[in-house]
Amino acid sequence: MTEQTRDIPRHVAIIMDGNGRWAARYGEPRHHGHRAGAESVRAAVETCARAGVESLTLFAFSSENWQRPAAEVKMLMELFMRVLERETDKLHENNIRLTIIGDRSRLSNRLQERCDAAESLTGQNTGMQLNIAASYGGRWDIAMAARRLASAVAAGERTVDSIDEEALGSEVCLHELPEPDLFVRTGGEQRISNFLLWQLAYTELYFTPVLWPDFDAEQMTLALEWFATRHRRFGQVGTEDAGNGAG
Ligand code: IPE
Ligand code: IPE
Ligand code: MG
Repeated sequence: MTEQTRDIPRHVAIIMDGNGRWAARYGEPRHHGHRAGAESVRAAVETCARAGVESLTLFAFSSENWQRPAAEVKMLMELFMRVLERETDKLHENNIRLTIIGDRSRLSNRLQERCDAAESLTGQNTGMQLNIAASYGGRWDIAMAARRLASAVAAGERTVDSIDEEALGSEVCLHELPEPDLFVRTGGEQRISNFLLWQLAYTELYFTPVLWPDFDAEQMTLALEWFATRHRRFGQVGTEDAGNGAG
C-alpha cells in the first residue's frame, strides 16, 4: 500500500449504534429505536452512493447480539426480514449490489432464503456494493478463514508454509474489496465491538456521539469530510514529514 491521497473513501464501514438509547431518550421501548434506525440506513446508503463511495459495510447484528433478550433478538430478525423485503427492489433499481456477511447458519431458513434472493437479484449490478453484516463477528470471520486454510492443508491442496498474511487475508469476508478506508461508529462508544478486526488494520476511525437514528445525510457528509482531512501513512513516512529527521 502507498500513501493515500484520495478524498473520497472507497470503502466505508459503519457500526450503527445507539438505537436503544435513542428510544430511551423519548421514553419509548428499545424496538422503537431499532425501527427508527432502519430508516437511517437509507440516508447513509444514498449519501455514500452519491459521493462515489464504492463499498459500504453496515454492522446490523453481531455474534454477541444473539445474547440479548429473546424478544429483542426476534424483533431484530423480523425487522431485518421486513427491510430486506421492502428495500431490495429499490436497491436494485439504483444499481446497488447487496451482499450479506456473517454466520448465516444461525439465521432462520426464511431469512437465509431472503438473503440469497436479494444477493442473486442484485448480483450483476455495477453501482455501489452494500454489505450488511448480520450474525457477524470479526473473530468468527478470522476463525472461519483459518479453518478453510487448515482444510486445504489437510486435503493436500496447500502447504503449511504457504499460509501467510496474504493467504489469510484472501479468505476473510470482503477480501475482494479494498479494505475499509473510513470506519464510523455512532452512539458515542469508542470501540470496535468485534466488527471487521482483520480488515480495519489501517482504517481511519471516526467516532460520533450522534445516536444512529439521528445519523442523517448531513452527519454522513460530516464523516466523509473528516476523512478528507486525514493523512494516511500506512506505517511509512508521510509526505508532510518528508525531509524532517530523515538522514
Ligand atoms: C444498535 O443499537 C443496534 C444493534 C446492536 C442491533 P443498540 O441496540 O446497541 O442501542 P444502544 O447501544 O443500546 O443504545
Ligand atoms: C455493536 O453494537 C453491534 C452493532 C451495532 C450491530 P453493540 O451495542 O452490540 O456493542 P457494545 O455492546 O456496545 O460493545
Ligand atoms: Mg449498542
